[in-house]
Amino acid sequence: MASDRYIDFVNSDLGRKLVGAVGLPAPARLERWQAGRLRPVEGALLLSTGPLAQRVGSFAPRLTDVLFSAGGAVTGESTGAHPWNAEQSAKIKAVVFDASTLLHTSQLSQLREFFQPILRHLDNSAHVVILARAPDAQSDPLAASTQQAIEGFSRSLAKEMRNGGTVQLLQIEDGAEDQLEGALRFFLSPKSAFISGQVVRLSACGQQVQDWTRPLAGRKALVTGAARGIGAAIAETLARDGAEVVLLDVPQAKSDLDALAARLGGQALILDICAPDAAAQLIEHLPGGLDIVVHNAGITRDKTLANMPADFWDSVLDVNLNAPQVLTQALIDSGALRDNGSVILLASISGLAGNRGQTNYTTSKAGLIGYARAMAPTLKARGININAVAPGFIETSMTAHMPFALREAGRRMSSLGQGGQPQDVAESVAWLGQPGSGAISGQVLRVCGQSVLGA
Ligand SMILES: NC(=O)c1ccc[n+]([C@@H]2O[C@H](COP(=O)([O-])OP(=O)(O)OC[C@H]3O[C@@H](n4cnc5c(N)ncnc54)[C@H](O)[C@@H]3O)[C@@H](O)[C@H]2O)c1
Repeated sequence: MASDRYIDFVNSDLGRKLVGAVGLPAPARLERWQAGRLRPVEGALLLSTGPLAQRVGSFAPRLTDVLFSAGGAVTGESTGAHPWNAEQSAKIKAVVFDASTLLHTSQLSQLREFFQPILRHLDNSAHVVILARAPDAQSDPLAASTQQAIEGFSRSLAKEMRNGGTVQLLQIEDGAEDQLEGALRFFLSPKSAFISGQVVRLSACGQQVQDWTRPLAGRKALVTGAARGIGAAIAETLARDGAEVVLLDVPQAKSDLDALAARLGGQALILDICAPDAAAQLIEHLPGGLDIVVHNAGITRDKTLANMPADFWDSVLDVNLNAPQVLTQALIDSGALRDNGSVILLASISGLAGNRGQTNYTTSKAGLIGYARAMAPTLKARGININAVAPGFIETSMTAHMPFALREAGRRMSSLGQGGQPQDVAESVAWLGQPGSGAISGQVLRVCGQSVLGA
């Protein structure tokens, strides 16, 4: 895996001085989730007033030991929230601002009034979540405009965050309020370290996580391309969260796959997802069915279109797009994919932005995004969610082989100024596979440090 020596340097004593003196970018070392950690927020959580914030107040003591309120006392005595005070209170690690009641342009000043005083008091790797309503669910045009305005604000605030801070906007539909805890356990914690400037919509969903220390307990998950890179990190993270894992990869990857499956107590399945009998073999190896399918296997065969051989085009489309479609349909038709399950497709931000030399790859990745959007409504009746995760620049052997200048550009052209880790993508997949994450379906979750590409 590539190592980012620039981050090591700017976070050393000498580097800090030099970089500060000449005004170079200084990406922060991001805090990440460590196995065994219990609290999503290790530090102070600041909650605004408002009806959704009040809901958060009811479970906030499960998120953190240190709770502050700002803008009134709606979080109530029972939550133990203290009014926040810039001079006396601890640094803030996480913020939840309820913007759901902003329904007119004149109320948008509340965004500035709430955030301005706290920005200089944020801790390193602070996570901000703004709760709002979906603009298209507003009947009053001024209310819809105001709720849309909040999106512009949150994306810009994400770009102004320092020291590894992130900002997300969650649009909460009526009836989705009881899914706030799962979403905030993800977005307020280091599990979402490399996600920023995103908008995620939550719909009503009947499922709930039973045990937050093992949210995937009782679930069986298939990960394709699991022998290395992002797929291996996904398998590890799903197993950490309690899932029983089936790891799939091609025959050439057998020894790595067997070793990882043995370590995780999972099953190794040697299979080329493009083989004519791949669907039949898969179903045969999953007699009891499964709950989570992660289509991670993917390849690149880069050439500009003028120079693209037919086999480069065909193989990329086959592995990256056709195989996930064929296997998903077979798992649905055979009944192997259980009710309330999850399908997660590994797309890419270049599938949103386009990329020179990758017409085949970006066609396949955009196709996956279209597939998630199109399948979501039909799978909803069975409680199955389907989403695309779109990584940006992730430090893997794939990106380690990029030419130096392209690699540096990929790392720095984002709000967090660095590449992500395979774990960052894996945490998103694990979250989307949890019970309750059926609240999110047909969406694209970018894990890209708010890359400027396709934003
Ligand atoms: N690394 C990044 O920065 C990045 C960025 C965006 C998207 N992605 C996507 O994330 C996924 C994983 O990327 P990675 O960097 O870990 O890649 P990788 O090349 O390190 O791993 C891919 C795995 O898929 C397996 N595979 C390939 N073809 C297969 C087939 N026909 N059947 C079964 N297994 C097959 C490979 O053997 C390999 O183990 C890919 O879909 C990739 O497009 C990666």
